[in-house]
Amino acid sequence: MTQASAPGKAILFGEHAVVYDQPAIAVPLSDLRTTVIIRSIDAQPPSVHVVATDLDHSFWLHEMDDRDPLAYAIRLALQATMPELQESFEISVSSKIPIASGLGSGAAASVAIIRALSSFFKVDLSDASISALAYRVEKLHHGTPSGIDNSTIAFEQALYYKRNQDPQPFSLGRPLQLVLGHCGVDSQTGAVVAAVRDRWQASMEEYSAIFSQIGELVERGYDNLKAGDHKQVGILMNENHALLQRIGVSNQALDQLVARASTSGAYGAKLSGAGAGGFMIALVGTETRESVARALQDAGARHILVVQVSG
Ligand code: MEV
Repeated sequence: MTQASAPGKAILFGEHAVVYDQPAIAVPLSDLRTTVIIRSIDAQPPSVHVVATDLDHSFWLHEMDDRDPLAYAIRLALQATMPELQESFEISVSSKIPIASGLGSGAAASVAIIRALSSFFKVDLSDASISALAYRVEKLHHGTPSGIDNSTIAFEQALYYKRNQDPQPFSLGRPLQLVLGHCGVDSQTGAVVAAVRDRWQASMEEYSAIFSQIGELVERGYDNLKAGDHKQVGILMNENHALLQRIGVSNQALDQLVARASTSGAYGAKLSGAGAGGFMIALVGTETRESVARALQDAGARHILVVQVSG
């Protein structure tokens, strides 16, 4: 039996603008993981059975085409590790990362599958190679991904990220305490990214200016995260949320949760990931963690997660 796992991720600054070559910052959520277990089974000819418990989804690999993201990730990983299948095995995927919520569940499944297969076949793949394979699956999910999700999840480090450049891992000045609240609406990254693209094409000057302003916030956020100045980080998160509202990726429920987080003691808050649904994140102190979580609960959050990001 072989087991591997991969974390979720939260974008602290710069989502959407990163698709347009601005920098962004994301952190892994190491307490929320997708786990993949591979065990040998008896089946002839050699075949692969896949069970995704949380998705209520199971299939034989040879019966599923590449439009299925799990099947595609497995095929890419097999090409890189064991192109000629000589034995049968079952791949079980289970996850604590809520899906369609902005926390990187798709990229985490891909990374965990690729890692597990490379370990099962004892083929050493670097984090960069794993990330590059997972990026190909991301493209299937949502057309024009920046690559920030697969990179943060494969490297499992806080990253300063710019498209088409090597990701830059960095150390947080202090651990982050985050309270995440789900706004009650699911979000499909591909659709939200495509809608932003349409609006950008219709109002290129306005949108490009907003993306640049987000890029400036990212640079300041980066400095303050390294310095551990969470008060400043929080202020910048609020500003980033306001700019995300202007590109039309927030909604009333997210805005309400973000506002409630701020009035209940968070340093700052914003939507995280594609938006138009999913989770918002609030940066809190140890002393305000409980009050912010309770306030989000009272404001109707569907699901609340309290996590610490270290390093
Ligand atoms: C999704 O987690 C982040 C987006 O910026 C899309 C991307 O970077 O691929 C919305």
